[in-house]
Amino acid sequence: MRILMVCLGNICRSPLAEGILTHKTQDLDVFVDSAGTASYHIGNLPDNRSIDIANKYGIDLTDQRARQFSEIDFDNFDKIYAMDTHNYSSIISIARNQNDRDKVDLILNETNSKSFDSVPDPYYGEGDGFQKVYSMLDKACDMIVNKL
Ligand code: 4NP
Repeated sequence: MRILMVCLGNICRSPLAEGILTHKTQDLDVFVDSAGTASYHIGNLPDNRSIDIANKYGIDLTDQRARQFSEIDFDNFDKIYAMDTHNYSSIISIARNQNDRDKVDLILNETNSKSFDSVPDPYYGEGDGFQKVYSMLDKACDMIVNKL
């Protein structure tokens, strides 16, 4: 099973999602990666605030480098999770066929909560934004693992 997490910059939300799901699937035959729909941060480490919150839970993100999502990812992954509705639309807009589109879902569709459809972008925010994002992704990744 190959799972790709996608956000905009690939430095805040999807690196966290990658780190959390990798951590939860250590004993399973699952490959997890992440990418961004935008090119701004290609080659960069995750944002320090994502690195810090992951560290708090014993997860290391410092081997990750940002990359941009491309249509080849539809061939290389079984499941592609978008962090928000904007990312979802960007991914769908480059899908080549129905098989590609069928791989794409909003990550929060995996949780039972109907309160949010998008993981809020914490990049320009302050305070506990990264903690909130961590908690949302942790729950969603538990649900993903339960279905594997
Ligand atoms: P991410 O957050 O999509 O969760 O990685 C962002 C990172 C950078 C920018 C926007 C969102 N940016 O505009 O540079």
